[in-house]
Amino acid sequence: MKKIFIGAAWPYVNGDLHIGHLAGYLIPADTFSRFCRILGLETLMVSGTDCHGTPITLEADKRNVKPEDIVSEYTPKIHNLIRFYDFTFDIFTSTTTQNHKRITQEFFLRLLKNGYIFKQKTFQYYSPEENRFLPDRYVEGKCSFCLAEGQRGDQCEKCGKVLNPGELIEPKSKLTGSKVILKETEHYFLDYSKLQPKIEAYVRENHHWRSFVYEETISWLKKGLEPRAITRDLDWGVEIPIEEIPENLRLDNFDHKRFYVWFDAVIGYFSATVEWAQKNNRDWREFWQNKECFHYYFMGKDNLIFHTIFWPGQILGQNLNLNLPYFPAVNNFLFLEGQKFSKSRGVIIDSLEIGEKYGSDYVRFYLNLILPEEKDSDFKWSDFEKRINGDLVDNLGNFLQRVFVFYRDKLKGKIEREVDNEIKEKIENTYKLIREKMIKVEIVSSFNLILDLIREGNKYLEKNEPWKNLNLAPKTIYNSLLLIFNLRKILNPFLPETSKIISQRLNLKEIKYEIGKDNYLFEILDPQEIKIEKIEPLFSKIKV
Ligand code: MF3
Ligand code: ZN
Repeated sequence: MKKIFIGAAWPYVNGDLHIGHLAGYLIPADTFSRFCRILGLETLMVSGTDCHGTPITLEADKRNVKPEDIVSEYTPKIHNLIRFYDFTFDIFTSTTTQNHKRITQEFFLRLLKNGYIFKQKTFQYYSPEENRFLPDRYVEGKCSFCLAEGQRGDQCEKCGKVLNPGELIEPKSKLTGSKVILKETEHYFLDYSKLQPKIEAYVRENHHWRSFVYEETISWLKKGLEPRAITRDLDWGVEIPIEEIPENLRLDNFDHKRFYVWFDAVIGYFSATVEWAQKNNRDWREFWQNKECFHYYFMGKDNLIFHTIFWPGQILGQNLNLNLPYFPAVNNFLFLEGQKFSKSRGVIIDSLEIGEKYGSDYVRFYLNLILPEEKDSDFKWSDFEKRINGDLVDNLGNFLQRVFVFYRDKLKGKIEREVDNEIKEKIENTYKLIREKMIKVEIVSSFNLILDLIREGNKYLEKNEPWKNLNLAPKTIYNSLLLIFNLRKILNPFLPETSKIISQRLNLKEIKYEIGKDNYLFEILDPQEIKIEKIEPLFSKIKV
């Protein structure tokens, strides 16, 4: 691996982001990005706001404003959030740019030229009362697979099935409650059955995915892929490049038709790279055609199939030899006190609010422990308090505090450079194990290794009792500082702010990310390098 491309899912810009977004993909992507950068790998992390589609128009319709208004209301808030948590995006753009529009159209035209697209008449939900086609999301009814009530026309939340028009029983308009019917309309389809052999060959080469990701993908392939409509009867989305479509391939009419949001959104990963390259005088090919560049994607599991099948299909259909997703880091769902997040039911924790109240690293700290990597997990306020007070303040905070105070006040800065091999091995081993885990984006277990290492530090102090064994104290404290000195690197990707503060306390420069320089390695401490003046505690206990 020489280079890393990181695509973090593009949040719909139809509301504030709750901590499910932080835990689902933002914190994992940022942690991974920092990890790659500290290894010295050239890393490009992109994302942006997902501005099209019915999540946006639905919000606009509810409030009787234009989709543009929704986009301009929430875009700055998402940017604030990114700034607040100091997420390391190289570019965070939007699907409303000219560049994205053009590249989406080019993707479509290439798929068309390569014979992967056909047009076909289909039935869509239509509201006679409102006199227009209704997007699947505007329609509610009973899932015809699992019979769950109140499901949206595009996907059943109960059984997870992606639904086609007509697969809801007793469909009704979500806006007006009136009955909807099916009506014929013509659309473009991307022929996934034709792409299946290529997609399948690609997936089967990628056994290293999380098992639930691999299995879910394989089960889709086993059922056999079907062509999917990539246009919709909508006025909000990327325009179809009518002029450039050969006449025999044009639709009956193009009125009120746009590309489907999932067709354009994933292309954002590519278009954002092109935008970044243009702005930085670089070449997108370095990340998309260089086979030494590995592509990691971060998302919640509701996005899984779009990233392991549909997006790879769009890429393969280009015939441009573009890099495919190497590792889709898909997370399960985060619940709040056992419930699904829901703004309307008040089951919500706003990402910015909790960060502003407790501090960004307090939030990162707890979420790193409960990221839903292997299965769904639960945010519990009482657990948040317990883990912060116990593991952050008591374990890490006290260790730092005891060492700093002893160093400054008892030893007056005099320590003895005599490396204790037991400590050295523990530190080295932590680096090594985390490296192995992080290639597979195993953040929770990596983070737990860090907590273990800190516990070892506390045990080391207790065993050697520098406050009693004063003649050994310069050595004991040296080795404790050696641990802290390395800890600020080890935990840097996970708790960047804390890493920075520890560096400041030691009077050291911040950890830098330098391309080509691997900084995630054991480093010996020269006592001369450090100076400790300030010793106020780094953390304080919280009460929720
Ligand atoms: N906006 C989508 C969601 O929130 C995610 C889109 S990911 C992208 O579920 F890659 F398609 F942009
Ligand atoms: Zn269902």
